[in-house]
Amino acid sequence: MKTFIGLPGKRGYTPFPPKGTSCGAYIPQVGALLQARCNSVLTGLLLPAAVLLTSAAAMASEAGMRLDQAPIAPTDVVSLQSGARTFANYCLNCHSASLMRWNRLTELGLNESQILDNLIFDGGKVGDLMNVSMTKKDARKWFGAAPPDLSVIARARGADWLYSYLRGFYRDPARPTGWNNTVYENVGMPNPLWQLQGERVRVEHALKAGEAREGQGGAAIAVKYEMVKPGSLTPVQYDETVRDLVNFLVYMGEPAATSRKQIGIFVLLFLLALWPLVYLLKREFWKDVH
Ligand code: HEC
Repeated sequence: MKTFIGLPGKRGYTPFPPKGTSCGAYIPQVGALLQARCNSVLTGLLLPAAVLLTSAAAMASEAGMRLDQAPIAPTDVVSLQSGARTFANYCLNCHSASLMRWNRLTELGLNESQILDNLIFDGGKVGDLMNVSMTKKDARKWFGAAPPDLSVIARARGADWLYSYLRGFYRDPARPTGWNNTVYENVGMPNPLWQLQGERVRVEHALKAGEAREGQGGAAIAVKYEMVKPGSLTPVQYDETVRDLVNFLVYMGEPAATSRKQIGIFVLLFLLALWPLVYLLKREFWKDVH
């Protein structure tokens, strides 16, 4: 069985929000905003409506978006383990995956003590569901909407969408979180992986000959995204991290997919092997009739 590679000690990253910190302190740039939301009662009522409206608009505007193909490999156990680690460190603080139990990860070659020591940070047990440490009530206060459960998000959105979305964040001072996204315009989620990816900004410039035009028939501008503050990973490493994460999200959407396909092939081969025998048997039964 493969080992759990690349684990940087017990807890490689700061979870969000680190224990004992106030909700806004973790992402300094959005700290003030979150704090303000923490304190505001009114926003708890108004923001969900606003988020609903903006996400409906986002759905409409993202229809024409070109997505990058996610180079995932569902049978690559090491990639799935790495994705599980990123997921536990960076996503479970806000999102739940309440259809998944931790001990299901033994399918990915992890033993229970590895799961307990490296992935479960809230003192839970390996038999627990992947529930979120943040309460729904707090989430609504801080973000205006409870982050959706991610158990089957890959089935809803598809791997390519997730791969593009998680690589599509850029800095946008006009947004309350300070972040925007190329795939999900005006999203309510700040970039959870900003320390790894770094900070990018959107740069527009006049269209030069041969450059692709942004939007339909609009102004002649070209858009590119420039890294203004590099993260701890290079862009190539970051893409690999996101690939592993998306691989894991796809696995979570249907953990039995790989064995289902293997069993399917086995069943077809079995039927194929059975066919000549059944044919000979049929000839044997009918030989006196004809
Ligand atoms: C700081 C809290 C927070 C963290 C950490 C976080 N998210 Fe989110 N996420 C949100 C919120 C809030 C939304 C809802 C945004 C909206 O609807 O505008 C969201 C929405 C999403 C969506 C879109 C769901 C949909 O279909 O509309 C996906 C996918 C997602 N998150 C994946 C992730 C992944 C993967 C991670 C870990 C790398 C992560 N999130 C970490 C807060 C968070």
